Amino acid sequence: MPIPTIEWVDGRIHLIDQTLLPNEFKQIYCDDVESVWEAIKSLRVRGAPAIGIAGALGAVLGIWKSKATNYPDFAAELKKVTDYLATSRPTAVNLFWALTRIEQTAEKHKDRVLLDEAQNIIEEDRARCRAIGQHGLNLLRNGDTILTHCNAGGLATSDYGTALAVMFSAHESGKNISVYADETRPLLQGARLTAWELMQAGIDVTLICDNMAAQVMKEGKIQCAIVGADRIAANGDTANKIGTYNVAILAKVHDIPFYVAAPTSTLDLSLKTGDLIPIEQRAAEEVTEGFGSRTAPEGVKVYSPAFDVTPAHLITAIITEKGIAHPPYEESLASQGD
Ligand code: MRU
Repeated sequence: MPIPTIEWVDGRIHLIDQTLLPNEFKQIYCDDVESVWEAIKSLRVRGAPAIGIAGALGAVLGIWKSKATNYPDFAAELKKVTDYLATSRPTAVNLFWALTRIEQTAEKHKDRVLLDEAQNIIEEDRARCRAIGQHGLNLLRNGDTILTHCNAGGLATSDYGTALAVMFSAHESGKNISVYADETRPLLQGARLTAWELMQAGIDVTLICDNMAAQVMKEGKIQCAIVGADRIAANGDTANKIGTYNVAILAKVHDIPFYVAAPTSTLDLSLKTGDLIPIEQRAAEEVTEGFGSRTAPEGVKVYSPAFDVTPAHLITAIITEKGIAHPPYEESLASQGD
């Protein structure tokens, strides 16, 4: 990224407003917790690790001007702020992971060292994304074409991404790779963000509509699929952007490896299976009049889950910063817990 996806600057949070891309590359700032909540809810900042960072920085911002004179009062104020931020988006576990880390840091130090902890989360995420890239790189051969869905790039993390980290690392190591990016209805993260990031990096990218993936695979154009994740249950079931499950089924039918790339902060080993992952529902208008133009009759019923859960049996391997986990995931992920 030419500038960080999200950062703390002089008591404010600066972030790239991803709803404006690719037409406008603009940093906005949040100077209260309500605007951080709104930025997460409306996807100005999005992608599981970046949502976690926004939560951590948002919690710091929410108690930045606290006048509490003792720790119990301070802790109660902090809890109010973290509970509020936790209502912004339900599926990406990174948000809850980061808020818990901030709460635990306050509890441990009985002090206000929380900005340091939020900065640690950012630095760790940077390192994790680089490590994911290095591990995943070994799964790609020179000349491979990869299909990806949604955006799991630098915009979705502190920097460099997860699924896209694998592609960036392969490209930087001199492998000649190409990418097909699903446009990712209804909010077009693939078209607006992934295509933009890959083009910036000089990686050959071809945009397709989501419903073209089967044909592209049938034509023999794809050697593997790599996607990110919002929450991975103990058995490897993986929640990611709606449409990911379709890609996994298509990959299986066409005998193409299907990889998930995610930091261990995306693991939720407290959930036995993906059936327990809460799925966010989005507003009907995102389907009927996304980007300002009405494309469905007024009053039509809409169902719009933002995520789906890919069953573990469709996932060839899960790439984390600790290495490559293979089935059975109950065992391989248990040893990777964050
Ligand atoms: O609704 P979004 O844009 O936040 O959904 C993002 C995704 O589904 C990403 O693939 C996931 O968060 C991984 S980002 C490294």
